[in-house]
Amino acid sequence: MAQFIQSINEGEQEISAELSAGLSAQTAFTSAKYLYDALGSKLFEAICELPEYYPTRTEAEIFQIHGPEIAKTAGLGATLIDLGAGNCAKAASLFSVLEPAQYVPVDISVDFLRDAVARLQQQYPKIEMTGIGMDFSAGLSLPDAVRGSQRLFFYPGSSIGNFSPQQALVFLKKIYAACDQDGGILISVDLVKEKSTLDAAYDDMLGVTASFNLNLLCHLNRVLDADFDVRQWRHRGFFNAAESRIEMHLEAESEQTVHWPNGMRRFKRGERIHTENSYKYTRQGFMDLLTQAGFSGITAWTDPQEWFLVCHARVM
Ligand code: AVI
Repeated sequence: MAQFIQSINEGEQEISAELSAGLSAQTAFTSAKYLYDALGSKLFEAICELPEYYPTRTEAEIFQIHGPEIAKTAGLGATLIDLGAGNCAKAASLFSVLEPAQYVPVDISVDFLRDAVARLQQQYPKIEMTGIGMDFSAGLSLPDAVRGSQRLFFYPGSSIGNFSPQQALVFLKKIYAACDQDGGILISVDLVKEKSTLDAAYDDMLGVTASFNLNLLCHLNRVLDADFDVRQWRHRGFFNAAESRIEMHLEAESEQTVHWPNGMRRFKRGERIHTENSYKYTRQGFMDLLTQAGFSGITAWTDPQEWFLVCHARVM
């Protein structure tokens, strides 16, 4: 049976204080991690199926075509640490080529992960599985149950893009430190491309991304005990070329006041809450970032349109 460890690194009070400070800031903001409650994780899964959201299928195509070469570069029998594992599908698609000795999916959405690992362990009874429920953006100290040898940190889906480049560097340095002497990283990043393609990917026709973004308010109503009227808000998602990032915002459709214990905010019509950034890199820019974090021996794979990049890098 799969082992499951829940590592609590933020208490309710810290969460409330963080959210309250963000909502009270001059330009209100929330951390993108609050997009992922149980429903948010399911909506994100649905986003990955959308025709406009090219990252998932493009990355899958790169894994499919270059899987054997990736496995040769990264090495077999690794301790595969899947950061932000979600439904674990991406890592599972590489099990047959990577043949990991231990699989360690890590995700903030605990219940969602618990179910996914239990299902996967049944499918792959020979791989030791240790699920970890934690917010790894706050720190990367892994429990003793995670093997120290041949650690391969797997950070797919361009999730690194949800950090600013400065935060990404700090985070990559933490991964580097957690790699020990023989570890490495297998990481993907979305590349800069035409604005119309990027805009459509984050503001799809069916409004799934809009629901994903709006669901954040339902989550805030629960965790912060706030009284957002979700119907009074609309989704905005667009590429900001000057910052090389997608920005997601929630925009007030009417003037309103939102309350939560020990706080309140008046929003004017059209005022926004900044809910997510998704940075887009150039191939060279991302390889430079890995090098700055200390990694070397970088190998990169891309798709024929050069829309998406998968990199392997090692500590030595
Ligand atoms: C998880 N992350 C890489 C997604 C992205 O593309 O930045 C989250 C997302 N936000 C809206 N659509 C998808």
